[in-house]
Amino acid sequence: MQLRIPGPTPCPDEVLQAQTRQMINHRGKEFGELINGITGQLKRVFQTKSDVLILTGSGTGGLEAAVTNTLSPGDRILSVSIGAFGERFADIAEQFGADVTRLRFEWGSAADPDTVRQALKDGPSVKAVLVTHNETSTGVTNDLASISKVVNEFDLLLIVDGVSSIGSIDLPVDEWQCDVAVTGSQKGWMAPPGLAMVSVSPKAWQAYEKARMPRFYWDLGKARKFLDEKSQTPWTPGLSSMYALAVGLDLMEQETLPGIFARHARVARTAREGAKSLGLSLFADEAHASNTVTAVKSPDGVDAKRLLQILREEYGVVLSGGQQKLDGKIFRIGHLGWVAESDITRVITALGEALPRARP
Ligand SMILES: Cc1ncc(COP(=O)(O)O)c(C=O)c1O
Repeated sequence: MQLRIPGPTPCPDEVLQAQTRQMINHRGKEFGELINGITGQLKRVFQTKSDVLILTGSGTGGLEAAVTNTLSPGDRILSVSIGAFGERFADIAEQFGADVTRLRFEWGSAADPDTVRQALKDGPSVKAVLVTHNETSTGVTNDLASISKVVNEFDLLLIVDGVSSIGSIDLPVDEWQCDVAVTGSQKGWMAPPGLAMVSVSPKAWQAYEKARMPRFYWDLGKARKFLDEKSQTPWTPGLSSMYALAVGLDLMEQETLPGIFARHARVARTAREGAKSLGLSLFADEAHASNTVTAVKSPDGVDAKRLLQILREEYGVVLSGGQQKLDGKIFRIGHLGWVAESDITRVITALGEALPRARP
């Protein structure tokens, strides 16, 4: 089976094997070594000297933690939204009482940094900017380096959803001054779902001291205290996912970050060129096309759901459909984590054969 959705992603055998390991005492020395090892490796991939905390939950939990640990009800927030996950990020902040202004860009496009600057000039009391680095619903990667420069001109908190980019697409957290950056184990990490990983800058910790949104399970201060003082987590951690993540991180370290980013760029090119060679059109503005997920327009006369069904049932290729307003209009090829060009070439071959059969 070729699981080519943008997460969960396939895991190498050694990662799967790691999950079969017996449980250990999460308050014991062995766990301390495990969490300290993973945390050190994560910091290298996040390219940060700040804290990185491992939470048991999915990426959305990490996004909720990012919001509730830095903000208070009534805080003015600018949400830069280019798709379904940008909207979700804004929804979380709104749910916890933030005063959210949504700066929306057309789905398929990237955010324009100058427009972000103008929005911040127009809304001078904004406290934080929420931005999705890689919008998985549309297959677009934002120019976070430029957006970060703009946010810095105003000295605001920059809170980044890097769920489907960190570890696959370059996101140097310190260099781009991301105050909180979030990812999830089922994305580029060659690991199963179950963990959210969150970096927290010194500026974000200052915000934490004043933040009044309700938090308990996702209290990052508690997570930091337990990690620093005891090499533990406050609550029972997802041990099996951590065993697996440790192995995924070892594999990533062997490949090196430049090697990983270059492979994702090559694989993405294979997906884009392959789709175009079949006469298909890409949904994303190609200048900002993502290296972890390719969104393809469903051609006229093709039933996208039927196409995905044929691919799944007859070719063993599992792709994703479109989300929300893109349902039935696009399909998405996930290519992050444990993936090589040859995997995507096989997907394109199957797609070429399935397409004519998905026309009524
Ligand atoms: C960009 C982005 N943000 C957030 C999420 C939500 O993560 P999770 O499904 O792990 O809660 C995803 C997952 O698909 C994502 O791709």
